[in-house]
Amino acid sequence: MTTSRLPGFYRRTIAERLDTVQKAAQLTTEEVSALRDAAGFDCDNADRMVENAIGVFPLPLGLAANFRLNGEDLLVPMAVEEPSVLAAASNAANLLREGPGIVTSSTEPIMIGQIQVLDFGDLPATRRRLEAEAERLVEMANAVNPRLVERGGGAQRLLVREFPDTAVGPMLVLHLEVNVCDAMGANIINTMVESIAPEVEAITLGRVRLRILSNLADKRLVRAQGRVPIERLARGDWTGDEVAQGIVEASVMADVDPYRAATHNKGAMNGVDAFLVAAGQDWRAVEAGCHAYAARDGRYRSLSRWGIDGDTLVGTIEIPMQVGVVGGITKTHPVVRVVHKILGFPSAARLGEIAAASGLAQNLAAIMALATDGIQKGHMSMHARNIAMEAGAATDELERVVAELRKTRTYTSTEAAGALKRIRGGA
Ligand code: MEV
Repeated sequence: MTTSRLPGFYRRTIAERLDTVQKAAQLTTEEVSALRDAAGFDCDNADRMVENAIGVFPLPLGLAANFRLNGEDLLVPMAVEEPSVLAAASNAANLLREGPGIVTSSTEPIMIGQIQVLDFGDLPATRRRLEAEAERLVEMANAVNPRLVERGGGAQRLLVREFPDTAVGPMLVLHLEVNVCDAMGANIINTMVESIAPEVEAITLGRVRLRILSNLADKRLVRAQGRVPIERLARGDWTGDEVAQGIVEASVMADVDPYRAATHNKGAMNGVDAFLVAAGQDWRAVEAGCHAYAARDGRYRSLSRWGIDGDTLVGTIEIPMQVGVVGGITKTHPVVRVVHKILGFPSAARLGEIAAASGLAQNLAAIMALATDGIQKGHMSMHARNIAMEAGAATDELERVVAELRKTRTYTSTEAAGALKRIRGGA
């Protein structure tokens, strides 16, 4: 990929945009039709994937432009129903692209499996027995997945956590920490914890109940940091300094006030989820993990921080990221397969880092708008297309109805219906 800069991309036709992405990612004709019509994905696929299938559920797929990660440009596919997300991500990515662009990193892909133990005898003695057997339990867990160990992953350690006084009596919760390599990890982890559970019962002389991964994947983190020269933030009557100050104030509000943190994080998750959906990931797992991580010190806080460093605005996001490029639907869903090709067949770590970068860009776009003109101006004008379509505008009438709505700045279905009537009447 030479450049992700696609000036005027939003003004092109879908055919032109597909042509651009076909050339950029060297897509075959079949791959282009997988994007255009979700060709290759029908009720039969749905029937194989879920129970009680009655159809398929399309979502818009778009490309966010201007992204630059660790010195390399890339096009970021996003699947989302909300207008503005792609435009906002592309605009913010354009601000964040100087130098190496967004700089990302990840920890090792360590996921946690939990085993709940109840009805054991003396707690300290049970704990000691478990700790003495921890290494053997780790070996047992690895025996069920030798291929993971061959790939450099596998269970690494077993920790014992105590909850001596719960509503159902003393409880121990074991944490099996596993390097899951390029997988999301749910199947690997669940198989491992289920397989060692009988031995845990034998050691504790207690009763094992739950055996499942934890979605608070706080050992599997991704980080993205972006920098924007403050002078580039100037817009309308606002100086760069004023906008930067507004962004910092927004960031601080999200840090001190959980009511704002939830909305601030929702803005970031607009980017994370839209990308994860397109990339065929379990975005609910990532959502659950991110929000639990946001509350890790006892109060729900923002997932990102924005501050000023000399003449630069600096933003960082750090989030748990349970994603995979083996298993799931990454190789079987025809659109997801093309999305991975557009991304250059990333590793799980890289995929997670792109998600974090998308979240950072989306968060910047949202708080920059909020700190200046407010969100409605841009949002409603993007929303105008939906309103025009709802009012019955045909494709060739859409832009004219939208232009009328923009003129009056009244984005209602009544106004759209009136505009449509006038257009059709030749007014
Ligand atoms: C809307 O989808 C997202 C925002 O509310 C995020 C934010 O307030 O930061 C605009």
